[in-house]
Amino acid sequence: MEVLGIDIGGTGTKGGLVNILTGEMVTERFRLDTPQPSTPTAVIETAAQVVQHFNYKGAIGCGFPAIIKKGTAYSAANIDKSWIGTNAGQLLQDATGCVCHVCNDADLAGIAEMAHGAGKGENGVVLMITIGTGLGSALFINGELVPNTEFGHFYLKGMDVIAEKFAAASSKKKNDLTWEQWADRFNQYLKMINRLFSPDLVILGGGGSKKFKKYEHLLLENLRIKPAEMRNNAGIIGAAIYAYQQSQK
Ligand code: BGC
Repeated sequence: MEVLGIDIGGTGTKGGLVNILTGEMVTERFRLDTPQPSTPTAVIETAAQVVQHFNYKGAIGCGFPAIIKKGTAYSAANIDKSWIGTNAGQLLQDATGCVCHVCNDADLAGIAEMAHGAGKGENGVVLMITIGTGLGSALFINGELVPNTEFGHFYLKGMDVIAEKFAAASSKKKNDLTWEQWADRFNQYLKMINRLFSPDLVILGGGGSKKFKKYEHLLLENLRIKPAEMRNNAGIIGAAIYAYQQSQK
């Protein structure tokens, strides 16, 4: 069974067909830039182009970088503010003619890693952090997702910006940081996360997980940390799994 997963991010909109049983992508991923300004009309048009690329007709899963309840966005940190209160699921459904299931992007990446990747068989408190334009989070307790956590939005001690402005992949690029400088920032974030949640495992995903080897040795040692096995494709794979699960209800 193959389902289309789409991952709308602050910078890129990506998609691919996923084998639901194995959790593997069965196509190359297709990526378009997320339009700027990232208004609902422009972003939905781009996501619909991804659907067209695969000439797909069926249920679609879609990750979106915001708090999502029943398809509606309740925040908009790295996406146009006009998304707040907009039903992304309905818009995508209208644009594609397919049934669309939309959920927070990091939650979907976490679902994929728990089912088939670095979190498989892991109990206790597992936290997935996606490192990209922002910092996304997905919290699992004994395998159960606690939806819509926004752990990239904590304030770090002594700072007047939220954690993602300081430690996401975009801040490394924007401030031209070396891996050492960025890892120092990210460790401050991890220390706070550890103090607040004592996770049994932290999985690092998003675009930043592709470069895990470059900073692995620089990360805090008293935390169990693994890179996402599906790297940056976890969001697409989780979206497809989510659509399949929802369509079975
Ligand atoms: C958003 C989250 C999202 C994360 C990763 C944050 O800015 O608030 O909802 O999961 O970026 O895209």
